Amino acid sequence: MLPPPLWMLLWCAMASVALVRAQPPAQTFFPAALPLSIRSPHMSVWYASSNGSQPMSHSWPAFWGLQSIMGWSGKIRVDGQTFAWMGADQAPPNVTNVTNVQLTPTRTIFTMQAGPMNVTITFLSPIEPSDWVLQSLPFSYVSFEATALDGQPHSIQVYSDISAEWLSGDRSSLVKWSSQSTSGSRYHEIDLQTPQPFVEINHQAQDGKAYYAMANTAGMTWQIDQDVTSRGQFASHGSLTNTFSTSFASISPVFTVYGISVDLGTIQSTSAPVTWAVGYVRNPTIQYTTADGITEKLSPYFVTQYGTNVGAAIDAVTAGYPDALQRAIAFDEAIIGNASKISPHYVDLVSLGLRQTMGSLDITVPTSSDGTPNASDVRIFMKDVGASSPSGRVSPVERIYAALPALLYVNASLIKPLLAPLLDAQDFLTDVPYAAQDLGAAYPNATGARGSAAQGIEQTGNMLISLYAHARYSGDGSLISEHYNLTKRWADYLVANSLTPNNQMTADDEGNANMTNLAIKGIIGVKAMAEISRALGQDVDAQQYDSHASALVGSWQSLATSADQNHILGFYGNQQSWALMYNIYADRLLGTNIVSQMLLQGETAFYQDLLQSSRPYGIPLDTAIGEVTSIAWQMFTAAIVQDDSVRNSFIDGVWARANDNLTVGTFPDAYDPSTGAIQSGTAGPATGGIYSLLALKRIAHDHISLSNKTISASPPSTLGGSGPGGQSGDGGNNETRNSKVSVGAIVGGVVGGIGALAIVGLGVFLFLRKRRRHDMLEEDEKIEAMQDPHRPTLSPYMYSPADTLPHSYGPPLAPMDSGTFGHPNASSTERIGSNSLLVPELARDPLISRQSSKERERERNTRLQYAASASGSSNTGTASSRDPLSPGRTQFSSSGSRSGASGTTGTSLSPTDVLGLRAEVENLRRVMQEIRADRLEPPPEYAG
Ligand SMILES: *[C@@H]1O[C@H](CO)[C@@H](O)[C@H](O)[C@H]1NC(C)=O
Ligand SMILES: *[C@@H]1O[C@H](CO)[C@@H](O)[C@H](O)[C@H]1NC(C)=O
Ligand SMILES: *[C@@H]1O[C@H](CO)[C@@H](O)[C@H](O)[C@H]1NC(C)=O
Ligand SMILES: *[C@@H]1O[C@H](CO)[C@@H](O)[C@H](O)[C@H]1NC(C)=O
Ligand SMILES: *[C@@H]1O[C@H](CO)[C@@H](O)[C@H](O)[C@H]1NC(C)=O
Repeated sequence: MLPPPLWMLLWCAMASVALVRAQPPAQTFFPAALPLSIRSPHMSVWYASSNGSQPMSHSWPAFWGLQSIMGWSGKIRVDGQTFAWMGADQAPPNVTNVTNVQLTPTRTIFTMQAGPMNVTITFLSPIEPSDWVLQSLPFSYVSFEATALDGQPHSIQVYSDISAEWLSGDRSSLVKWSSQSTSGSRYHEIDLQTPQPFVEINHQAQDGKAYYAMANTAGMTWQIDQDVTSRGQFASHGSLTNTFSTSFASISPVFTVYGISVDLGTIQSTSAPVTWAVGYVRNPTIQYTTADGITEKLSPYFVTQYGTNVGAAIDAVTAGYPDALQRAIAFDEAIIGNASKISPHYVDLVSLGLRQTMGSLDITVPTSSDGTPNASDVRIFMKDVGASSPSGRVSPVERIYAALPALLYVNASLIKPLLAPLLDAQDFLTDVPYAAQDLGAAYPNATGARGSAAQGIEQTGNMLISLYAHARYSGDGSLISEHYNLTKRWADYLVANSLTPNNQMTADDEGNANMTNLAIKGIIGVKAMAEISRALGQDVDAQQYDSHASALVGSWQSLATSADQNHILGFYGNQQSWALMYNIYADRLLGTNIVSQMLLQGETAFYQDLLQSSRPYGIPLDTAIGEVTSIAWQMFTAAIVQDDSVRNSFIDGVWARANDNLTVGTFPDAYDPSTGAIQSGTAGPATGGIYSLLALKRIAHDHISLSNKTISASPPSTLGGSGPGGQSGDGGNNETRNSKVSVGAIVGGVVGGIGALAIVGLGVFLFLRKRRRHDMLEEDEKIEAMQDPHRPTLSPYMYSPADTLPHSYGPPLAPMDSGTFGHPNASSTERIGSNSLLVPELARDPLISRQSSKERERERNTRLQYAASASGSSNTGTASSRDPLSPGRTQFSSSGSRSGASGTTGTSLSPTDVLGLRAEVENLRRVMQEIRADRLEPPPEYAG
């Protein structure tokens, strides 16, 4: 800590005028990618801020892997001059300056300046855990507000479009379109000419329809035409033609865009937000094979309300924005209020991590032969978004376990229909004693249970823990009752196998013998079974599993404690070993408390030392796995340590990774704790593990006193010996998956709880926000960071060293004003900005990068095959060394003139030429961004 005079001096030297001027809390969190629209496994659109540019207004949004651009542009016209607020088809100075970005669990909010106008753009991806019609409607919003900074009225028009890139990962796919007017809305619909059901190409689905819509608004005009035509029309007239071209074609290379614009007249300030709704709808969503081998097509849950009448759904979506926004604000404030009791960094993490968890789910219902949906037969599927080729697994059990805290926190009732298909698939597999790992290798085909004996303890433990957690948090015992025989079969397997895991692997692909963390998961699974039995009145079983669990945990404790009694070993008998004992989190979550407090106290002190000497981004999973860690498992561990400062150190390591925009990519689960390099799970569900602390707090502090919640259930069907009790799929069992009932109950409980907490939370939030700002002004961090090149805090979205320095940091970055994104000094402005620097790059190495991407694919396949057959320790150590990003290939910093492109040539050309040229430039930029994104593809995963 420097004495005040010195830091004040430094602060004065560093702080720019802009920071002082900045009104909203200055931005302190700079993730490498910002979520824009995440509503389903096939609708996950991000802004990748490390594309060598400012966020927004300068680059194209991309699909989660950042390999495919999702054409989405926005413009504002101020007194006849047009500025881009999204998309890369314009160059500075005709783009808005982004001055701030704030994240909440449901929103990403940009503040920008366009000439005299202060513009706010809000991307809202609703999270509606208690209303499954709304949750399953795959629409999100982008909304525009503006206020004149000079207090004067200005003539304002605003425009936005999407392209058909939303429709397919194969850009040569042919598309067609239409534009419709309903009583409430205008919407454009884009269809594939030949959709292929349940097929994915480059992770995008090949069977959906895309929508761009707006509620009927005064001054609204629309157009479907070539990009340059529509955008040029807007730029020169401030309105569109209300016409659509019918030259149906492929998605690219000629880009058709689907635009809607509003002329706001001469205003000083928008009176209401201008809001577009973007949708990507698949119906059916899942191809589901039942335990009986019957294949059903399942539809999104919203068909229970809207059937196939998309127009009605869109009217509800567009008209529903004000309410959706109010709900989102209440939801966000409740979460942020609670998270801020832990730490400001934790607030950032809960804000970044939730959309991708919720967006990994498809909530479905079957439809009968006459097309009527069966609302009482809900199934939810999770996609292992972020997995490598060919497609993500269906309902991966260890990801469900990782995401459990978030799901329990937002609405525990979501877990029942998520687990039900896994249980239904295994009820009658009586010769398989352990639990499956998923329901299929390639989403959206839920082909049936797939498991491996090697992950027996891992997945069986995960299932029993998840099942009891659902019952305990929801009070709904129907699932454990219906599948009681199955749970007993699994518990018996754990009793026999958990203590000394042999030939067993974790889902992280670790296969050493005697993993203490795996053993304790199995043992907690046995204890969970005791509680399941007790909840169902099966007291004899309960006592039996209780005594098994206590015998096992006794042996485990003596085997797992280090000789000097100071910590838990990672592997029995190896005194040098340790591990993140994240599975003990389940013991706390379930309230089973079989692991002694004293042991955890010792472990806390041990972690404290470990954290002192740790990597910049956290702690590896254990001493054998190499440089591998996970967001979820570190956050589980953070929730079991007995000391708030140790807890906060874990949070800070994870936060450092989340805030690291030197490693390009969407928010991952697994990464290298030394370099931050991504290993797996980008944009995937496991980040729900961040809610570990909130889920425990709910148990502890909620008004609804969940710890005392009575689990209500009918006795297990074991006793009745009734018919096909576990069979699902027919609506006959009206207790099964009656989501209406359980959702209703939860709405009362959770929303009541959240509502009350929201009020308290808001106060705390505002207070902490103030304090954060104050803290920040102390500048300690900045000073430290100046001295330490590993601190990514000072690398807001600038010219990005990530392109050249994927895994090492090179020279310290110059201190920058973290309150604004642009232009700390002239040279970096030029680097970011101009086409003339980007375009020549293009000619140089598309071939190289294509080839390397193929090679990577090959490597990855080999790796996956290896991983599948590997039984030994992890092979992940090499992940970073074979990273495709090779230094030096992407030097954008070379000097170059800013002439060329549209800047200077524009003046001497006719308007048509300018448009043509602009199209050219745009296409080049697109290709450029695709190529770069290609290079930025994360390294192969270590886990399948
Ligand atoms: C711009 O608008 C945002 C959002 O309303 C506000 O927080 C900010 O203070 C405004 N900026 C300026 C410079 O007025
Ligand atoms: C962005 O900021 C620069 C420097 O302050 C300014 O010259 C430029 O006009 C701004 N651009 C817009 C669109 O407001
Ligand atoms: C799902 O199954 C269909 C055949 O029913 C197949 O055409 C499709 O490629 C599969 N999807 C994936 C992602 O593998
Ligand atoms: C459960 O197991 C018991 C005894 O093994 C058997 O009688 C009963 O039918 C089973 N229940 C179901 C639903 O399979
Ligand atoms: C910016 O827009 C103006 C018209 O509004 C145009 O004359 C100029 O060429 C544009 N500049 C660039 C770099 O695109």
